[in-house]
Amino acid sequence: MTVTAVIGSQWGDEGKGKAVDYLAERADYVARFNGGNNAGHTVINEYGTFKIHLVPSGIFAKNAIGLIGGGVVIDPQVLIDEIKMLNAANVQVDGRLWVSPRSHIIMPYHKVLDGLYEEAKGAGATGTTRRGIGPVFADKVSYNGIRWTDFTSKAFEERLALQLEVKNKIIVALGGEALSYEKIRDEYRGYYLQLKPYLKELFSLVQDGLKSGKNFLLEQAMGTFLDTDWGTYPFVTASTTIPSAASAGLGIPPRYISNIVGVTKAYTTRVGSGPLPTEITDTKSAVYEQFGEVAATTGRIRRVGWLDLEIVRTAVELSGTTELCLTKLDVLSGLEELQVCTHYELSCERVRYADVDSYGLEQVQPVYKTVAGWREDISQARTFEELPLNAQNYVTMIEEAAGAPVKWIGVGPEREATIRR
Ligand code: GDP
Ligand code: IMO
Ligand code: MG
Repeated sequence: MTVTAVIGSQWGDEGKGKAVDYLAERADYVARFNGGNNAGHTVINEYGTFKIHLVPSGIFAKNAIGLIGGGVVIDPQVLIDEIKMLNAANVQVDGRLWVSPRSHIIMPYHKVLDGLYEEAKGAGATGTTRRGIGPVFADKVSYNGIRWTDFTSKAFEERLALQLEVKNKIIVALGGEALSYEKIRDEYRGYYLQLKPYLKELFSLVQDGLKSGKNFLLEQAMGTFLDTDWGTYPFVTASTTIPSAASAGLGIPPRYISNIVGVTKAYTTRVGSGPLPTEITDTKSAVYEQFGEVAATTGRIRRVGWLDLEIVRTAVELSGTTELCLTKLDVLSGLEELQVCTHYELSCERVRYADVDSYGLEQVQPVYKTVAGWREDISQARTFEELPLNAQNYVTMIEEAAGAPVKWIGVGPEREATIRR
């Protein structure tokens, strides 16, 4: 039995979707355990190209069962649309996807409040995905949430009425329009009926799977530095993104997690506000163009930067990463020289990521070393030896600095564009 957690080592969008789709072949269970549809995971395989927000990216593996744990927050319309989209693409989801009734539901007021808080913060806004993530997790931990289990009794109507009484006051005070109880009640009852066939308590299923030696592949959403505790607070997301979240979010005891794959982009990107020490700010530069990406969930342009080894090293230490999956190495092809941040200094003294807060991280001086690049297109390489020597050196530099071996290397967005070492 293996329980493998796939964790992004940076600020999200490291290529977790592709990594999970690639690794799912031998999995019995593929599971999401944190976040919600703020995640956008890209999968490109024989079924097509997908931007997945809630269903585990491993669902394409024929023998795998998909699980959405209680740690995930669910926007029902998004989940329903995603199931339909996958079924239409001949990915059979019915009977192969189970959603924990413990999961909290994103309500219309969560999305409205997410937007109103962002507007109210003005220049200090977090740059959220506006999917209601902060407000729904706030309700979860302040005992104001609504879960799927609430539909099995009168709890849903009672809780909704109470929440709307409170939430409408806040919405109106912030300049928004009050929401209708009846409209939401009917809409969400409809969602419940559509999702009922997928709702199932996961406890026994997970326990039996662990006892009978099944393989679990656990897919994190967001990245290590968007973690509420260890990320660049307050420029973070509302859920835990380090491997411990997999335990709480699925009911898997921590000692069962045997492998931790750190998905690491060969450079750095970030969406939304907050420090990005190695950011390339010259938006007219050729490197900015080359690293450029569009966000899978919101369509925003991702901020880009050079590889930051202090960030990757810290992620490996925090998560106990056992192997790295290096993605997008192909994107660096053609650059004569590459800058790599080896560590940070503040007032000429070395500082670690964890020594400073977000304000401090804006002040640190990233110390760079210049390494030689390569001209060749590497997208067809399928063995490490086929990579140009400078690309090989880039990979070994990362594993030495990070303290974990690079076991997989991505040389293109498609599943097969992967080198296994
Ligand atoms: P996730 O949120 O971590 O799943 O990552 P996203 O899907 O949001 O963003 C990663 C982007 O990089 C997507 O467009 C992927 O198709 C793409 N991608 C992933 N791995 C590779 C790779 O090795 N090479 C290239 N060129 N693209 C990749
Ligand atoms: P995947 O799983 C990149 C960022 C948002 C914002 C902050 C808070 O695709 O890697 P939120 O909507 O969560 O309240 O926004 O977190 N963020 C992500 N950035 N990839 C993601 O997911 C993200 N999910 C949230 O841009 O800065
Ligand atoms: Mg993404």
